Amino acid sequence: MTATGPVPSEGAEALRQRAADALLAARERTAVLTTCVEEPDLTAQHSPLMSPLVWDLAHIGNQEELWLLRAVGGAEALRPDIDKVYDAFEHPRAERPSLPLLPPAEARNYVADVRSRVLDVLERTPLNGGGPLIDAGFAFGMIAQHEQQHDETMLITHQLRRGPAALSAPPPPPAPAGAAALAAEVLVPGGPFTMGTSTEPWALDNERPAHTRDVPAFFIDTVPVSNGAYARFIEDGGYDDPRWWAAEGWAHIREHGLAAPLFWHRDGGGPWLRRRFGVTEPVPEAEPVLHISWYEADAYARWAGRRLPTETEWEKAARHDPATGRSRRYPWGDADPAPEHANLGQRHLQPAPVGSYPEGASPLGVRQLMGDVWEWTSSDFLPYPGFAAFPYREYSQVFFGSAHKVLRGGSFAVDPVACRGTFRNWDLPIRRQIFSGFRTARDVA
Ligand code: AVJ
Ligand code: FE
Repeated sequence: MTATGPVPSEGAEALRQRAADALLAARERTAVLTTCVEEPDLTAQHSPLMSPLVWDLAHIGNQEELWLLRAVGGAEALRPDIDKVYDAFEHPRAERPSLPLLPPAEARNYVADVRSRVLDVLERTPLNGGGPLIDAGFAFGMIAQHEQQHDETMLITHQLRRGPAALSAPPPPPAPAGAAALAAEVLVPGGPFTMGTSTEPWALDNERPAHTRDVPAFFIDTVPVSNGAYARFIEDGGYDDPRWWAAEGWAHIREHGLAAPLFWHRDGGGPWLRRRFGVTEPVPEAEPVLHISWYEADAYARWAGRRLPTETEWEKAARHDPATGRSRRYPWGDADPAPEHANLGQRHLQPAPVGSYPEGASPLGVRQLMGDVWEWTSSDFLPYPGFAAFPYREYSQVFFGSAHKVLRGGSFAVDPVACRGTFRNWDLPIRRQIFSGFRTARDVA
């Protein structure tokens, strides 16, 4: 089931249905991710970078209770005693296993209880004229996105987990005819375009407001950087040459002995292998490279005589329609994502080969901007001019600054409800357990 944000003019009943569908789709995904392993794997911490799965599960319900039952519905707290345990700012992930967490069965009952009350609130709340939290069903969309974001987080935990496979999905289709013959790069003309949005009803605070930006012409890769291309960087000694690396990146790879993407290994000079959801397999040359830190992406780009795109360039390549001058919701237009547009929603548990999804291309012919892999940009995570934190500072505002780099476009693990041309993700430049890759750009000489 696909449930994305509402179109700006949608009627009240269609909106209510869209909100209910988005919440249900998220819960179906959560159920898969929290029933595919036995209890010990739900309560264990599989990596210090991640929470136990059972923490994510009850945190999903607790956020839903806070925003949809208490803030929108005006209800008394169901479980005020557990608020602190599931507040991400009270306890860093590494500490969460030692908290008094609800055991799996209690966590399931709690999230189901919250959800049944939420559906009553949704039935009786007028979705327009009630203020910015409720208008267009914003809070319901925000909570569906929050659950889907944790579903991606839980999928990362599954990828880090040692042991036999618990999840599987069919592979994406092979690359379409002509993918190998695509031009390597696309010229994006200079001039103003509209960045961000003031009209997308379920856009989060950091995507707002819409504003004009002017960028000089630039070239951007038609497709994301592939495993094959990245392996050539490794073969060429890319990890041994400080010329390619930002100083902190060089220090980081030396200290930790990093010499390939996370989850890659090889025996002697044999072919590269990778571990993917409990299965070891050859690294597929034609797939976008995955599990790359910002430092690795930045170094590869310098080695290739190129650079990462800025966040502004990325969004212009993804949304600007040179024929009309307007910015689209998605590269292909304003229509909600469908399977022919992009690899989203955990339908496949890996990226599709580079050159896939011609129907999802931008007006200028850039492919795979949505789905497959999150794409690192060169930019720090900063507020847009006129930013206002809404509805809480801890979603975006506390992360603004030079510590975090922006990623765009969404991965195969992202649901359409949490993916659009304006959506912004961010992380530390050393992180690579996330479903991250990149494409490169260059100035017009
Ligand atoms: C936007 C993915 C960076 O997981 O830290 C989930 C999303 N915020 N709960 C994160 C989020 C609060 C956030 N990212
Ligand atoms: Fe959260």
